[in-house]
Amino acid sequence: MVAMASARALREQDGEGPVIPGGCFLGFLYVAPERWGRGIGGAVLDAVLAEAERRHQPRMHLLTHPDNERSQRLYRSRGFSPTGRSADGQGEWVREPGKSRD
Ligand SMILES: CC(C)(COP(=O)(O)OP(=O)(O)OC[C@H]1O[C@@H](n2cnc3c(N)ncnc32)[C@H](O)[C@@H]1OP(=O)(O)O)[C@@H](O)C(=O)NCCC(=O)NCCS
Repeated sequence: MVAMASARALREQDGEGPVIPGGCFLGFLYVAPERWGRGIGGAVLDAVLAEAERRHQPRMHLLTHPDNERSQRLYRSRGFSPTGRSADGQGEWVREPGKSRD
């Protein structure tokens, strides 16, 4: 295995509250470091986005560290943008429904 990702229902109150219909939260996306830069992260993220669309949960949120430029480039390329909110020292990013790749 060289990569994995996990997504779950989007909830209010930073994950503690009721489910927000139509949304999901990308809990993690990870590629083994020796395989970075070959399109694997993008392929896995595209698969998660496709599955979220299939489940009618196209609005996707995630948290990523402000210093993680590699992940932010990847997320921007898939239509994510920062919301300006932060939690646990990480910035919140969102991809609204209907966003396509750059
Ligand atoms: C962030 C992470 C998931 C990216 O995974 P990745 O497999 O390197 O991502 P990709 O290869 O799809 O994209 C990265 C770069 O490779 C480029 N690329 C894609 N396919 C390529 C190919 N065939 N040949 C060369 N470069 C390629 C992409 O254009 C992108 O370029 P850029 O960084 O200049 O924009 C990975 O670095 C990682 O697991 N990091 C640690 C965990 C982490 O930070 N997760 C996200 C936090 S929420």
